[in-house]
Amino acid sequence: MRLILLGPPGAGKGTQAQHLVAKYGLLQLSTGDMLRAAVKAGTPLGQQVQDIMARGALVPDDIVVEIVGQRIEQPDARKGFILDGFPRTVPQAEALDQMLGENKITLDAVIEITVDETALVDRISGRFSCKSCGASYHDRHNQPKQEGVCDVCGSHDFVRRPDDNAETVKARLDAYRKQTTPILPYYKAKRVLRSVDGMAPIDTVTQQIETILNKVKG
Ligand code: AP5
Repeated sequence: MRLILLGPPGAGKGTQAQHLVAKYGLLQLSTGDMLRAAVKAGTPLGQQVQDIMARGALVPDDIVVEIVGQRIEQPDARKGFILDGFPRTVPQAEALDQMLGENKITLDAVIEITVDETALVDRISGRFSCKSCGASYHDRHNQPKQEGVCDVCGSHDFVRRPDDNAETVKARLDAYRKQTTPILPYYKAKRVLRSVDGMAPIDTVTQQIETILNKVKG
């Protein structure tokens, strides 16, 4: 299965992708995670994108298209993947179509997670994740079952993202509105776009996505 999860920052793309990875054994390809790993490792790519990400702006299309292109050709992506945070512009969506076409891969669904903007700042400012495995949590909506212990890997170390602050969130939302929402009509025209209500509790959103996937799988 090949899916795209779309939605504004904080909509729950990463949270839902983690459920789908656990349930269907799909590979989660998060461009945000890949770019953050490059920044953390101090690679030339990381140095190039660090300031852009800190401002909440989008990294240039050619950079993200190249990292996704290299990643989906790896053997572990053959059984299926979830694109989380890519594409984010129409040129990225067009480049993805070309890559998929060259690899004779079709998309099964593009799922948009819709959320009221007022909820996003709360979600992002309360977010933290496991330093070891990346599992995502929230101070109030999604706490680890045992306080201070990651549900997934048992680690006791948690981190908050440097771009999860009020000023940068504003810029990220602005980038979403201006640069990413134009890809919704692009996928609607291809008849692959589905929407789920991201204001619902996490488990309910998961159920909505699974209902869509069950239909897609036929
Ligand atoms: P990226 O890492 O992709 O960040 P984002 O799109 O801003 O999305 P988030 O990770 O913030 O949100 P999410 O939807 O995954 O929410 P989550 O599940 O964590 O990108 C970061 C930066 O990298 C960009 O700004 C850009 O610079 C660059 N970049 C990345 N990809 C790029 C691309 N393709 N092109 C150009 N630049 C790119 O949930 C948030 C919180 O809410 C969590 O605490 C969670 O527990 C909670 N939560 C989730 N669902 C619910 C729910 N239903 N109810 C209540 N709480 C919930």
